[in-house]
Amino acid sequence: MSVEITKVKYYPELREIAVLADEIWHECYGELLGQGQVDYMVEKFQSLDAMTEQIEFQKYTYLSVCENGELCGYLGIKPEDDDRLFLSKFYLHKDYRGRGIATAMMNYIFDEARKIGKKRVYLTVNKHNDHAIDVYKKIGFVVTDTAVTDIGGGYVMDDFIMEYIV
Ligand SMILES: CC(C)(COP(=O)(O)OP(=O)(O)OC[C@H]1O[C@@H](n2cnc3c(N)ncnc32)[C@H](O)[C@@H]1OP(=O)(O)O)[C@@H](O)C(=O)NCCC(=O)NCCS
Repeated sequence: MSVEITKVKYYPELREIAVLADEIWHECYGELLGQGQVDYMVEKFQSLDAMTEQIEFQKYTYLSVCENGELCGYLGIKPEDDDRLFLSKFYLHKDYRGRGIATAMMNYIFDEARKIGKKRVYLTVNKHNDHAIDVYKKIGFVVTDTAVTDIGGGYVMDDFIMEYIV
């Protein structure tokens, strides 16, 4: 397995991530949240325009994850003003799950956090996203809080907040 994780800025890589995000989000959230909410969330958070805005104005960094040269996943991170790094996006295409790539992705994030002097990595995860919650727990994350966030359009996100001390 050769996993390559690379910071992504604009075209064409960010467009490729938007296409991948659309596929992964519909696959993993379609049943959980319903098609309408997933369409809304993809447009609001993972469209090319939305990600460009996050990078330019909200201190986000997107990273592509490739195995043997094939784009198979992506990450999104944002440093907070305190000692935390927000792991905003952690996604792998279904054909690439269960083979150690997620652990490599997470180790990369922990290294990034240490490099910029952060002490904690935190994330939000849908309360019913059982597999992701199991993975995060296995890695050593703990639930620190819950959050219900109004994302507009009549939709809410009902999440656990989880944290890992790096
Ligand atoms: C979340 C995601 C990136 C994890 O990737 P993955 O390939 O499924 O993860 P893996 O199966 O490699 O599991 C990672 C680790 O957790 C362990 N694990 C997996 N399922 C587990 C379970 N039910 N109980 C305990 N440990 C478990 C694995 O053994 C592995 O540990 P190891 O590397 O020490 O062997 C991937 O499932 C995904 O993209 N899901 C859809 C999108 C999503 O929900 N993203 C998170 C949004 S918050």
